[in-house]
Amino acid sequence: MHTELQRKSRQGESERGSREREMRVGEGGSSSLKTMVERGYNKVATYLKKEGLKRKNFPILGGHPAAEEHAEASVENVQAARGGVKAKMKEFRIYRWNPDKPQVNPFLQSFRVDLNSCGPMVLDALQKIKAEEDSSLSYRRSCREGICGSCSMNIDGGNTVACLKPINTDTSQATIIAPLPHMFVIKDLVVDLSQFYQQYKSIEPWLKTKKAPKDGREYSQSPKERKKLDGLYECILCACCSASCPSYWWNSEEFLGPAALLHACRWVSDSRDDFTEERLQGLTEDTKKLYRCRTIQNCKVTCPKSLNPQRAINQMRIKHLYYGAALG
Ligand code: SF4
Ligand code: SF4
Ligand code: FES
Repeated sequence: MHTELQRKSRQGESERGSREREMRVGEGGSSSLKTMVERGYNKVATYLKKEGLKRKNFPILGGHPAAEEHAEASVENVQAARGGVKAKMKEFRIYRWNPDKPQVNPFLQSFRVDLNSCGPMVLDALQKIKAEEDSSLSYRRSCREGICGSCSMNIDGGNTVACLKPINTDTSQATIIAPLPHMFVIKDLVVDLSQFYQQYKSIEPWLKTKKAPKDGREYSQSPKERKKLDGLYECILCACCSASCPSYWWNSEEFLGPAALLHACRWVSDSRDDFTEERLQGLTEDTKKLYRCRTIQNCKVTCPKSLNPQRAINQMRIKHLYYGAALG
């Protein structure tokens, strides 16, 4: 009896072992099948990358007609897509000047860019040229969102920021890119903005108050007062307006220029600021600072943020007259 039980138990163990062996074999089989399929896909992917692939060229898929059919259809689609996309070459003529080679005069260098593999903005084309053709090409850029004002330059005759300027897709004519006009060039498209920033600093672009806030914490503003700053606070100091202003070209030492004056207007218009009168006095002690504006309005036309510095200048002239009259 005992022997019979032992025999059955051994038989049970042996059956369990053989079932487990089968399972292990089964697992090994499914993993090797998976590897085979992966290899097949990899081969197909490799074939898809090759030009001029012949039909029925998938030995790895032999005996799997559906897979062969799919692979062939994929190849045909890829080839059709490639055939349909022709390179769309656009010429960009870019101002070049290198301070390390002062004997070489500034010149326009031609670059050709395939618009099919380039982003939509002029800054994208510059990035592509710098990355793929000439890493020595110099220009400023940072945000590529029209926020920082770094990438200002002259594109096809107008001052603007390159990241907000769409590429003219007419390939029959070149796009000409030059530095901001009437500015000293440091290299290629980079200009010296020291004086521009100095003038901006001179208007003291920060809140100036004479008394502590009523609640002891912050200076509050009503929505109506805040609205007066619309059209002024959005300026990104790109300098496109100042570099387009003929009055600024010829009097850049004395005339503050549209950008600095727009900011001056922003602080003069701020209900929280207690120095309006002093600010206006500072702007008009030398009349050229403010009154050199001849209302030509190039600044309004060129501003990439659609601001109107000329209107701001006029507002300050009116305020100046008002304060002058009030003071007697
Ligand atoms: S309107 Fe005045 S600030 Fe604007 S471009 Fe003309 S002269 Fe310059
Ligand atoms: S007013 Fe317009 S063009 Fe002038 S600096 Fe500001 S954003 Fe640029
Ligand atoms: S990169 Fe900042 S405004 Fe163009």
